[in-house]
Amino acid sequence: MKDPNAYIGVFDSGAGGLTVVKHIMEMMPNENILYFGDTAHLPYGSKTDKQIKEYATNDVAFLNGFPLKSLVIACNTADSVARSTLIKEFDLPIYGVIDPASKAAAQATVNGKIGIMATKATVRSDAYAQAIRRYRRDAEVYSLACPLLVPLVENRRYKKEDQVVTIILKEYLDQLTCHDIDTLVLGCTHYPLLMDAVKSLVPDLKIISSSYESAKALKASLERTRQLNEGSGSRTRFYVSDDADAFRENASVFLNYKLGDEVEQVAV
Ligand code: DGL
Repeated sequence: MKDPNAYIGVFDSGAGGLTVVKHIMEMMPNENILYFGDTAHLPYGSKTDKQIKEYATNDVAFLNGFPLKSLVIACNTADSVARSTLIKEFDLPIYGVIDPASKAAAQATVNGKIGIMATKATVRSDAYAQAIRRYRRDAEVYSLACPLLVPLVENRRYKKEDQVVTIILKEYLDQLTCHDIDTLVLGCTHYPLLMDAVKSLVPDLKIISSSYESAKALKASLERTRQLNEGSGSRTRFYVSDDADAFRENASVFLNYKLGDEVEQVAV
């Protein structure tokens, strides 16, 4: 059995995975969290599978240098492309985002028609359609690559009042709502910041956040295996492969509080 005090390692290509961290902190306030954002290689979503596997392996190798009790792939792109590579390479309990979000979408839909907004690489992998059909065999899954959304969010353009955000989102959403979907998965950990903007454009859809579902599934599993940290207080460290200041600024938007010297740039 792993030490409950050991870290939960979390990684993403950039700040997107912080949407998962935020939910982990809210749901499991005593956990020690170690985050790695591979900002030097962002975005992963437009890279080849080979590159994504290589980056993800390096990210986890870095985190695995610390005492970890579990690892969260807080990146839909890495989860859909590199999950099996990571499982083979590392002897760690590995959690992700695709499976919990797929399960939630399959449970939420009434008409069986589900839309997925994700990166190019996630869409190319077909991981969402395959995972959703494991929970609901007759589901119709419509996946759309939305490559403009990660750069927008990383540049702190996500508010529903922002006209650029609205125009771009509307163009993407129209391509999904024309299929009569009743459920929409935000299949990238950057997208939950766009939740209000999305909701205001498609108020009737059930919207699933892969970040929220991931944290919820992690908590259920840690509870089941008696790995939850029952101590009080928590330690959180953030590592990035590019400019730490830029990440600090972004992180305060994602997490809703200011980060200081707990952020460090490392060569990975
Ligand atoms: N946040 C990541 C995801 O969930 C990827 C963003 C990117 O690097 O393209 O897919």
